[in-house]
Amino acid sequence: MNEIAPPESEISFRRKLLQDLKRICQQLSPTAKLVPFGSLVTGFATASSDIDCVFFPGSEVTTEDEFTELPSLLEKKLQEEGFNAQLLTRTRVPIIKMVQKPTAENPQEIQCDIGFRNHLAIRNTHLLLSYSECDARVKQMVLVIKWWAKKRHINSPYRGTLSSYGYVLMILHYLINIVQPPVLPNLQLQRIPENTSDDEIYHKQGENIYNIWFSKDTESIQPSLNTSTLGELLRGFFDYYSYKFGWGQSVISIRTEGGLLSKQDKGWTAAKSRAANTVDGNETWEVKDRYLFALEDPFETGHNVGRTCNGPGVARIRDELRRAMSLIKIRGDRGRRLARFLCEEAPPERPFVRREERNPDQQEAKSPTAPDSPATHGETTEEMSTGITQTRVGSTPANTQPEQR
Ligand code: CTP
Ligand code: MG
Repeated sequence: MNEIAPPESEISFRRKLLQDLKRICQQLSPTAKLVPFGSLVTGFATASSDIDCVFFPGSEVTTEDEFTELPSLLEKKLQEEGFNAQLLTRTRVPIIKMVQKPTAENPQEIQCDIGFRNHLAIRNTHLLLSYSECDARVKQMVLVIKWWAKKRHINSPYRGTLSSYGYVLMILHYLINIVQPPVLPNLQLQRIPENTSDDEIYHKQGENIYNIWFSKDTESIQPSLNTSTLGELLRGFFDYYSYKFGWGQSVISIRTEGGLLSKQDKGWTAAKSRAANTVDGNETWEVKDRYLFALEDPFETGHNVGRTCNGPGVARIRDELRRAMSLIKIRGDRGRRLARFLCEEAPPERPFVRREERNPDQQEAKSPTAPDSPATHGETTEEMSTGITQTRVGSTPANTQPEQR
């Protein structure tokens, strides 16, 4: 486990960087907040984890116009402070991508995404954290699966496979609904105490109201009757997703009793195209929602966290699950040697180049991938190279690529 989790010095370096960023944000808007989410908060960080955070302007930003200007002002401010920062605007929510180059203090490059208006990510991060508080095996299992997925190169939403968040949802489904006795209760199905405020139950975003209730009172949850070791749980996980889970018909839905819905009932059968707009409304493009791997977000239930997975990506994930299961069958579910075989580095992938940085020959090449980003849920500029055509408002979409199946 020690090899997987980053040393405390790296975590504290990330926290220090976050403090520096907070200070810079407050120069722009004195009561602004920069709220972290993702693995830095859940404790699921590995050595290569990024920093995910959301910028909330202070009370002095009151008009929509002022809000719309903030991302580019922050981008400029960060660049003035010496950061390599780039604002992506052709996205559902604006996002600043930043890189902190290696320093003597911290030899590892750190990626940081600053999003705007991404309240639900903060909520779902706390759901994950609460599950982790229920049983120590959750964090151990997440760290091993994330390590395995990274080493086997199936944790690249930009290249057609699954985000870390997606793997965590797969693990939670297994621990809540599949393994017997369950390791975890369903926190979203716990009784709502009478004095609970509406803010803890509902979140309004634009036209939509989301049910964000889950029990945060993890101390009163009875310890699990399941006494399986980490190795036994990993074996069960690989076995379930290799041979039992219905990839073609089922939707993983951790909020639901039993944990599964059918693609048919949810209308998640064929890929669908929809229009997406930038925040300023100046640009619109077509987004393709795929349902080859259906993994419902626990709060934003219309969002398929598995939408980044294209045909080849799903095939690779399933091959890797079966490879892991075969190794466990041969070598048993215990020991460091098994971990080494399971997580042996797969051959390198082709480097991913953003569309804006491609030369004209590469621009023509059609990539089969679809990205996802914690800050944007996948609607990024890169996605336009992957089955989405960017058009100015009013113009006719052209060259929309067919769904990869
Ligand atoms: N997220 C989301 N919807 C997605 C992807 C991500 O809401 N489709 C949010 C979740 O709150 C998640 C966070 O973004 O906890 C970070 O996602 P990700 O980077 O995939 O997970 P991490 O645990 O941060 O993994 P890593 O350490 O690899 O960065
Ligand atoms: Mg992250």
